[in-house]
Amino acid sequence: ELCSVIFPSIVDRSPVQIAISSAGTAPVLARMLRTRLESSIPAGYGKLAAMAGKYRDHVKRKINDGLSRKAFWEEVFEGDIAELVYAEKLDEAESRIQQKLANPASKKLGEVYLVGGGPGDPDLLTFRALRLMQKADIVLYDRLVSKEVLALVRRDAELIYVGKTAGEHPVTQDNINEKLAEYALQGKRVLRLKGGDPFIFGRGGEEISHLAERGIPFQVVPGITAASGCASYAGIPLTHRDYAQSVRFITGHLKDNSLDLNWQDLVSPNQTLVFYMGLSGLESICRELIRRGKAPETPAALIEKGTTVNQRVFIGDLRTLPDKVREASAKAPTLIIVGDVVKLHEKLSWFKQ
Ligand SMILES: C[S@@+](CC[C@H](N)C(=O)[O-])C[C@H]1O[C@@H](n2cnc3c(N)ncnc32)[C@H](O)[C@@H]1O
Repeated sequence: ELCSVIFPSIVDRSPVQIAISSAGTAPVLARMLRTRLESSIPAGYGKLAAMAGKYRDHVKRKINDGLSRKAFWEEVFEGDIAELVYAEKLDEAESRIQQKLANPASKKLGEVYLVGGGPGDPDLLTFRALRLMQKADIVLYDRLVSKEVLALVRRDAELIYVGKTAGEHPVTQDNINEKLAEYALQGKRVLRLKGGDPFIFGRGGEEISHLAERGIPFQVVPGITAASGCASYAGIPLTHRDYAQSVRFITGHLKDNSLDLNWQDLVSPNQTLVFYMGLSGLESICRELIRRGKAPETPAALIEKGTTVNQRVFIGDLRTLPDKVREASAKAPTLIIVGDVVKLHEKLSWFKQ
């Protein structure tokens, strides 16, 4: 009882060692975590680290620039040389390292990763998103990227907030495009992290076309868009054999206090309408849909901060939803779903905050 020492679970790849501790609260959980790590970290990691140790000073002398040195080691640890070590071909691995040192690559162009960070829940990231998040040197992120997602980027990466409501001097889109190119030209791996999917109301296309024009390499990683995330976490399938055979993603953003949409198309039956950026336009959206022929009883939902622990779901119809949302003082980000599929929420809702 007097003891203040715990013996954490150890993953031993000497000289690399990982100790897992739950601070005495759940040793079984720590052991399970250890089992997972054991199975995902190659047994040859220790030999790889030992070999890196042997060449560390030499590499430092040969490659002065810190960024290029980091790139050198990442190529060693992620590429063929590591594979040779895992296959116990140590001599061959060493001679490859020596070759690589004799011709260190000239300063390389960086790359931009345009990554969708999903609607909020970090469990919804793709494996590829996570891998690139862990690789990036510098991160330009938006307002809608949740802090839980942001916490998963590489610890020593430089973080730059470029959200559209960034204080008194918001960063313009041109400015973002310029910065992406500028950092990549400096040889950095630049993560452009966006909420949801970068190609859905995300201006991702504009950003990469600027890069393409300048010959800067980039890759795009899709993210779960707010419509998919919110619909799933609210138990509202966007399509359903009995209710909707198509779905539309629409911007509900007001321009000069009005919405310039093709309303005639929107009122046709058997489709689901999903409005992004529609909170301040909710009343106009509902009023206009009714005016153009939708039944006032058409089910409608508004999902606030979907997929997060703060998610709230408001259910009503085109007539009642605006009042419900106003009374509850819902705050952005919110998503509006209109159509008969909303009826399924009562039965299919599963996510408890
Ligand atoms: C500029 S758009 C970006 C959309 C994003 N690229 C995507 O694919 O989800 C921002 C809008 O997405 C919606 N949105 C994003 N995250 C959301 C969330 N967690 N809950 C509800 N709506 C969300 C809101 O309508 C918000 O106004």
